[in-house]
Amino acid sequence: MSWCWGNSHDELITCMKEHGVIRSSRVESVMRIVDRGHYTKTNPYVDAPQSIGYNVVISAPHLHARALEYLQDHLHEGSKCLDIGSGTGYVAACMALMVGNTGKVIGIEHMEELLQSSIDNISSGHPHLLSNGTLELMLGDGRHGFLDGAPYDCIHVGASSPSVPQALVDQLKPGGRIIMPIGPYEGGQQLEQLDKLSTGIVLRKPLLAVRYVPLTDQHKQWPEQQQQKQNGHHDDEQVQKYPSSDKMLQRKSF
Ligand SMILES: C[S@@+](CC[C@H](N)C(=O)[O-])C[C@H]1O[C@@H](n2cnc3c(N)ncnc32)[C@H](O)[C@@H]1O
Repeated sequence: MSWCWGNSHDELITCMKEHGVIRSSRVESVMRIVDRGHYTKTNPYVDAPQSIGYNVVISAPHLHARALEYLQDHLHEGSKCLDIGSGTGYVAACMALMVGNTGKVIGIEHMEELLQSSIDNISSGHPHLLSNGTLELMLGDGRHGFLDGAPYDCIHVGASSPSVPQALVDQLKPGGRIIMPIGPYEGGQQLEQLDKLSTGIVLRKPLLAVRYVPLTDQHKQWPEQQQQKQNGHHDDEQVQKYPSSDKMLQRKSF
């Protein structure tokens, strides 16, 4: 928490810059462009997480800023990256603007309702990211990554896990970087940086103490949905374990 709040998105970003949370001009300019007010209606310009339903939150702006700072050298024009647990789509949109039209960002979210709302959020500010294919948002279990698009220059994970899913390490390019909260849900998590060397060895570096929602099974995060299925509100609507082209919803709202 950087004790920042503002009456506008610009005020929030200026405050985070003054407090040294935002350090680089690239991260500053991309975060100024992506207005948090399009991604949450409640207290968008306060540096605190906000509920987005389904037992999860949009992360605090200072954590978005930190993640983008740690990843920025891997988010250059033409980079290919994953955003796991893309939630509202805020980080995915920032990443997509940073990799430019020749790059690609794939966001993976396991709650269909959140995926739909992230499409709406991004459409309200930056529809071209979806229409030109720079950003694809998919439904699936992010712990498996997305093999068809691998290898990736960087991977951002927006939810915590006791360990790094091996699929994400396998899908990272040599020279690539993962930023991810690691540790038990109950507490004691660290935001970690994982750098894959050309030899394939992965160097881990703890960055800061954090508390994120878990990277988990859909029915554990939102048992109510499971209950609805059991009550017959859905018949055969298993969320696909892996994103596939018919579940790529990026153009659905156009
Ligand atoms: C902290 S929240 C949102 C993060 C996002 N960066 C944001 O600020 O809007 C974490 C997200 O991870 C999603 N999630 C949790 N487990 C997941 C999994 N196994 N696969 C994909 N998404 C998952 C949750 O539904 C939630 O939207």
